[in-house]
Amino acid sequence: MKKIMLVFGTRPEAVKICPLVNTLKKRPGIRTIVCVTAQHRQMLDQVLNTFGVVPDYDLNIMKERQTLFDITTNILNSFKEVLEKEWPDIVLVHGDTSTAFVTALACFYLQIPVGHVEAGLRTYNVYSPFPEEFNRQAVGIVAKYNFAPTQLAMDHLIQEGKDPATVYITGNTVIDAMQHTVREDYMHPELRWVGDRKLIFITAHRRENLGEPMHHMFRAIRRVLDEHPECRAVYPIHMNPLVRKAAEEELGGCEGIHIIEPIEVFDCHNFEARSFLCLTDSGGIQEECPSYGVPVLVMRGTTERPEGVDAGTARLVGTDEEMIYRNFKELLENKEAYEEMSHACNPYGDGYACERIADILEFGKYKPWKSLS
Ligand code: UD1
Ligand code: UDP
Repeated sequence: MKKIMLVFGTRPEAVKICPLVNTLKKRPGIRTIVCVTAQHRQMLDQVLNTFGVVPDYDLNIMKERQTLFDITTNILNSFKEVLEKEWPDIVLVHGDTSTAFVTALACFYLQIPVGHVEAGLRTYNVYSPFPEEFNRQAVGIVAKYNFAPTQLAMDHLIQEGKDPATVYITGNTVIDAMQHTVREDYMHPELRWVGDRKLIFITAHRRENLGEPMHHMFRAIRRVLDEHPECRAVYPIHMNPLVRKAAEEELGGCEGIHIIEPIEVFDCHNFEARSFLCLTDSGGIQEECPSYGVPVLVMRGTTERPEGVDAGTARLVGTDEEMIYRNFKELLENKEAYEEMSHACNPYGDGYACERIADILEFGKYKPWKSLS
């Protein structure tokens, strides 16, 4: 029986890897071990509860206002013992967080094979997103199994010289996670507050946006909300105290927005599905909204997920106040521009990514996903 260890630590990794944990647990040829770094504490636990995943190991490393140095050294030091005790056949990491990078590094030091879920996303600018572009490229150097969500991601890996026999096109596991979350009869007190007004869904947290860019983003949002009382915005805020401070300074007292605590992923998908428009710098939310036909303004300078932009449901608007203001306003005031963006499409997967990854790990073969890009 193959011993597979899955290691993750933040909310988005948990959303995308818990469905895989549950799929692998059902495979008779696989023994799964779950190790969380808890790079995020509360936001990770929320997702673990939702999916009913109980970790075998919890490194519990999160500190308030942690630096990249803190995360890196704390994981590296405590993870060695776990690896040496378990010696898994394969360790699976997800995406581009520091947890993924440091886990892959530790496995490299002990020469334990790594499988990279959500491999091959690229901006080719190591400072944007920071430090994620470096993290995912670094994981790519050591990964023996590369689970690329789309054709584009696969093309990046092949162009970089990866052995094609180690690259698999699976779709993104986030689409699997979304299969059973949205309900017609879903209700939430915040949706009652929105009533029949237009719901604007907002999130923001990126490290490179902390400081001035985030202030610009919030100022633009406030200006539009003040001019458009037919809108009501809901913003489940990240737990990073720096994000909270900027939001309080720029959005405090704004009547058109409710800033709420992080919501469960089940709620998040239902909010997204009911939104008129989403403004975000999140990676995962860019992947989720196209399925619901909800246009996304991506408040970042670059995106490693251009499939949504190419499909016409996402627009990259940067972090300049005027750019965000103009684009946000246009989608409220120009029906044609809005309708052009609001069509459902699924460039990121078909809901079977976990089964494909499990087939590769258990049997060494699978049926590739026919990605649109
Ligand atoms: C991390 C990832 C980023 C991902 C994001 C998802 C890295 C370098 N960054 O960034 O790729 O997009 O998660 O949200 O891996 N905090 C809490 N409780 C929590 C979570 C966070 O209090 O449950 C606070 C802590 O003060 C922590 C801070 O948020 O120090 C920042 O967390 P951190 O993991 O360092 O960075 P993120 O911006 O969340
Ligand atoms: N999410 C959530 N609750 C929230 C905000 C986001 O469950 O309050 C989910 C969202 O549906 C998506 C993931 O968290 O699956 C995105 O995480 P985040 O934006 O923190 O990270 P990123 O994807 O940018 O790395």
